[in-house]
Amino acid sequence: MKMWSGRFRQPLDADFERWQRSFDFDRRLLREELAASRAHASALKNAGVLSSTELIAIRQGLTQIGEKAASPAFLDDNDAEDVHHFVEKQLVALIGDTGYKLHSGRSRNEQIATDLRLYVRASIDQVRADLGNWLSISIDRAEQAGSAAMPAYTHLQRAEPVLVAHWLLAYVEMFLRDAERLADCRKRLNLSPLGSGAVAGATLPLDRRAMADDLGFDAPTANSIDATSDRDFVLEFVGALSLLAVHLSRWAEEMILFSSQEFGFIRLPEAYSTGSSAMPQKMNPDLLELTRGKAARIIGDATALLVTVKGLALAYNKDLQETQQPLFDATGTVLSLLPLASGWMKAVEFNHERMQQAAESGFMNAWAGATYLVRRGVPFRLAHEIVGKAVQTCIERNCELADLPLEELRQLNPAFDQDFYSSLTLQAVLNIHDVPGGTAPARVRQAIADARRKVESMREDVHAHA
Ligand code: ARG
Repeated sequence: MKMWSGRFRQPLDADFERWQRSFDFDRRLLREELAASRAHASALKNAGVLSSTELIAIRQGLTQIGEKAASPAFLDDNDAEDVHHFVEKQLVALIGDTGYKLHSGRSRNEQIATDLRLYVRASIDQVRADLGNWLSISIDRAEQAGSAAMPAYTHLQRAEPVLVAHWLLAYVEMFLRDAERLADCRKRLNLSPLGSGAVAGATLPLDRRAMADDLGFDAPTANSIDATSDRDFVLEFVGALSLLAVHLSRWAEEMILFSSQEFGFIRLPEAYSTGSSAMPQKMNPDLLELTRGKAARIIGDATALLVTVKGLALAYNKDLQETQQPLFDATGTVLSLLPLASGWMKAVEFNHERMQQAAESGFMNAWAGATYLVRRGVPFRLAHEIVGKAVQTCIERNCELADLPLEELRQLNPAFDQDFYSSLTLQAVLNIHDVPGGTAPARVRQAIADARRKVESMREDVHAHA
């Protein structure tokens, strides 16, 4: 039986009927739908609409539906309009007409809003758990890199040497922010729409606080019109996922670049690469390329969601059904990707020798050289000019700054002395970046410890929600 056929004189056009259904995709909300229905049933009992026996029958029926759903064939239902209709049908099939009592005083508009909040909440916990693994592995790699150095780039030109660990920790910070954004979204969404009815509130005196408690929500939502039409939390979540995907994409792009023969900083893990059907010598960074590519898809999902909601008058409109697939797609894409990216990160080999060589050439000690003069009282702008001239000489002679004789340097400025040379070594250059957040080795050791603590407290937080 349909949920709404009474006022209709004609059957629906068959193609339209099939086309407007959502069960094909909203079946994945079954667990959430059953949980929300259980909370509603208890509220109906307390409002005097269900007897104890009816409540027990409904609860048992809902449990059974959950159990049956373990076999996929159970969900092959060509007649169910959506997950809400499906549960009602199955419940009636199991316990008889008492099953129809479950829909007393509620609307699918509040149900879908509730199911989606529960789904996004669980998805956030899952993504944060996966991010925790990814972060731990990245920090391990930073720790393993020890004192190894590499060039840092600005404008993709060699700029200054940094520790490999410092470079990896840059990504750690980005993903920590992503995890935090998700936690923030979780806080805001954790309110219960149950009892909001179709738009104006439930038509029965339901205890909204009790329903919220049953489902682990912090409180009931404040306004029934908003609660039934709000999808901010979906937009926020997929927005956070698209930023996460952009971070993953930047990471992937840099790893692709560094794995090219031109850089040679990275040896691709074979387990996550593929070959060419034509060129026998090839090994391609497919995991990274697909990671970069999938960011486009997630951004597309976020865009689709924003555009779907942007012109909607309050409150529920069927357009909102269109928010489900982008949500599921973005969630599934990120959840399938993160463990693979973690596996890649664990398996990749860094060519420290090559990185170190690159870190020691290309005048990346020029700023440190100018800083040497600054410490001897030379105004920085002049020091910059002087070292710039020295670099120019080196370019002409194809040598490094440390190869210039002291007399020649003194002609540029008398402040140069013998200890200038020791200020140019890789170690000295790393060491002078001795500020919090800088690449001096002691600072990086501290940063590794700080990052570990942040990941640990995030893991504890995720654990507390599990
Ligand atoms: N399948 C619908 C959706 O996802 C459920 C809500 C239907 N409400 C309605 N008034 N037709 O949006």
